[in-house]
Amino acid sequence: MIPNQWYVVLETDEVKPGKPVDVTRMGEKLVFWRDTQGRVSCLRDLCPHRGAALSLGTVAGDLIACPFHGFQYDATGQCRLVPANGKNAPFPKQLKARFYLTNERDGFIFIFWGEAPAELTPPRYFDNLTGMASASVRVVWNAHYSRAIENQLDVAHLPFVHHNTIGRGRRTVVDGPFLDWNGPDMFHLFVFNRLDDGTLPRRPEELSKPDSSFWLEFIFPNLWQNHLGSQARVVVAFAPVDADHTLMYLRFYQSFMKIPVLDRLVARLAMPYNLRILRQDQEVVETQLPSRSELKLGEKLVQADRPIIAYRRRRQELIEAAK
Ligand code: FES
Ligand SMILES: [Fe+2]
Repeated sequence: MIPNQWYVVLETDEVKPGKPVDVTRMGEKLVFWRDTQGRVSCLRDLCPHRGAALSLGTVAGDLIACPFHGFQYDATGQCRLVPANGKNAPFPKQLKARFYLTNERDGFIFIFWGEAPAELTPPRYFDNLTGMASASVRVVWNAHYSRAIENQLDVAHLPFVHHNTIGRGRRTVVDGPFLDWNGPDMFHLFVFNRLDDGTLPRRPEELSKPDSSFWLEFIFPNLWQNHLGSQARVVVAFAPVDADHTLMYLRFYQSFMKIPVLDRLVARLAMPYNLRILRQDQEVVETQLPSRSELKLGEKLVQADRPIIAYRRRRQELIEAAK
C-alpha cells in the first residue's frame, strides 16, 4: 500500500447511524461509526485499555463506547470517559486509540492512510460524472489491489480474456498506448488496439492524443474509470482488504435515461454484463504470481505494458516520498 494517501474503503450506505461497523481494510481491523452530525469516524478496532474490539460496543452521541468496560473514544481516538473513574474525573490524555481521518464524497468513504500533513487536501474523485445516475455492486477478489488495478490498465489482455465480450474482433496489436498525465496522480489512457495486418505497433511517441470520448482514467491510489462516451461510464474503486484480498466497488453511471428512479434502474441493468467482464478478469488475475506487483518484479514487459510501467513507477515514487 502507498502510505499517506486517501483510499476509498467503503460506500456511504455501509455505515448507518447509531451502529458501529467493523471491516478489515489495509490489512487492519477498523471500526467506523457516524456521530450526531452524520460524520463518519474511523478507529483501529482495538480498545487501548485491554484490547477488546470497539466495534462490539455502542455509539454514545459522537463517541464510541467499548463493550468491555465502557471507555468512550472520540474521532481522534482520544479516550473521553472512563466510567470506573466516574464522569467527573479528568480523562486520561495518554489513553488513545489509533485513528484515521475520514472524508465522504460521491457515495464513498475515504480514509487517509498514513500521517496527515498539516495542509491536507481532500480526496479527489472524477469530476466528469455530474448529473449521471449510478448503480453499484461489490465483488471480492483474492488478489492484491495492485494486481487488480494493473489489470484495468492492461489493454493487451482484451482480445484474450474478453474474447467473447468487450474484446471481440481479434484486435490483438496494441498501438501505443497513449498516456496523458493530468497532474502527478491522475492519467488518461487511450486504447488503440487493431487487427494484425503485419505492421509493427506504433510507438506511443508516434501517436497524438486522439479526439475521442473513449478513454480510461486512473486516480492514485485506487480509483479507475472507463469513460465510455459522454453518457456511460464504469467506475471501479479498489479497496485494499489485506495483502491477498481486494474489494471492488463496481459502479455503472449513465445519463441517456434521465427519468428519476428509472435512471438508476437502467444503470442497474448494465450490471450483469459488467460483472461478467469482471469475472473474466478475476479468473486470470487471481493466478498471477507474485501476488503483489512492484516496480522491479522481474516480469518481461512489452511495449503494450507501458501503462502498467507508468503505474508502477508513480506508485514507487509515492512510496519513496512517504518514507
Ligand atoms: S477493554 Fe475497552 S474499556 Fe476495557
Ligand atoms: Fe479486463
